[in-house]
Amino acid sequence: MSINVGIIGTGAIGREHIKRINNKVQGAQVVAVTDINAEVAKKIAKDIGATFFETGEELIASDKVDAVVVTSWDPTHEHYVLETIKHGKYVFCEKPLATESEGCRRIVDAEIEYGKKLVQVGFMRRYDKGYIELKNMITSKKYGEPLMLHCAHRNPSANENYTTPMAVSQTAIHEIDVLRWLLDEDYASVQMLLPKQTSNTHENLKDPQFIIFETKSGVTIDLEVFVNCRFGYDIKCDVVCETAEFGLTDPAFTKVKAEEKNYTRISPDWQTRFMDAYDYEFQLWINSVISGELTGPTAWDGYVASITMAACHEARETGKKVNIELDERPALYC
Ligand SMILES: NC(=O)c1ccc[n+]([C@@H]2O[C@H](COP(=O)([O-])OP(=O)(O)OC[C@H]3O[C@@H](n4cnc5c(N)ncnc54)[C@H](O)[C@@H]3O)[C@@H](O)[C@H]2O)c1
Repeated sequence: MSINVGIIGTGAIGREHIKRINNKVQGAQVVAVTDINAEVAKKIAKDIGATFFETGEELIASDKVDAVVVTSWDPTHEHYVLETIKHGKYVFCEKPLATESEGCRRIVDAEIEYGKKLVQVGFMRRYDKGYIELKNMITSKKYGEPLMLHCAHRNPSANENYTTPMAVSQTAIHEIDVLRWLLDEDYASVQMLLPKQTSNTHENLKDPQFIIFETKSGVTIDLEVFVNCRFGYDIKCDVVCETAEFGLTDPAFTKVKAEEKNYTRISPDWQTRFMDAYDYEFQLWINSVISGELTGPTAWDGYVASITMAACHEARETGKKVNIELDERPALYC
């Protein structure tokens, strides 16, 4: 069996996912595309032999399309996901699921009403080999309970359009999902600190930012978000358990000894760092669509991330510790 996929949004990541589905993973092909930038989408449709649709709604409704991938701008996600649920089709939605937690909740409610999980959110860190190993080590309890996590998310530079809240909504969102998944528990509270600011930032961006989560069982997580670090794309996650510490390394680059130096490269950007994770994410999504049972991050995970982000914004604005209150988890997601 092979799945016919429709892509809504043929921008940067939409084009990456088209290549991924058509050339890298098995069991699916892109048969339909749409974008408000019709010129680009039409050219892509022609290049890959897919059908161009004038609107996302027509693409979703088409008999040609079995499953939908939403890679358009953030504010459009909720509408397209709800529309796809109405047609009873599977939908992979890039993060965020919706721009506000109320929108995520509407999607959760629509899925519950439909009676089956149709939505997967693009939290691809869960498919990174390093995070999977960390999860296996935590779950094995070989070194006792996890007590503390020390994490960092560093980008070399951020442009003028990247503003203070985006350190959470565009950047820390990945840790917000993957750390909760690693520990298999929800957050209880969050605090935010604004350390001494780098001279490389601009007036609309507080950089770096420091986030402290406490989970329901009391694990403390510190997360540095530093998007103008200049030296590369650097992701850290060190887990301190009762009798051991273990953590991520960068993927295997070559070790070089030369000119009285001994060094290894750092990933230049997120595409390089997480390329394999995206491929694996899509392979498993396609497999689960074929099998009829989704296994990846759910609409509920998208909702929890959204509630957590709102608490982070409040913590940063007020300087106070903010409790993270969730609705009761619906049976569909247990
Ligand atoms: N998981 C990840 O690591 C990751 C990485 C990058 C981007 N993203 C997410 O993917 C989405 C796209 O990001 P991008 O970097 O490709 O942005 P982009 O601006 O390059 O592409 C978005 C495309 O959506 C199109 N579009 C906007 N409104 C539309 C509508 N109503 N209908 C159809 N098309 C519409 C735009 O014309 C554009 O071509 C964003 O939501 C972003 O947050 C996720």
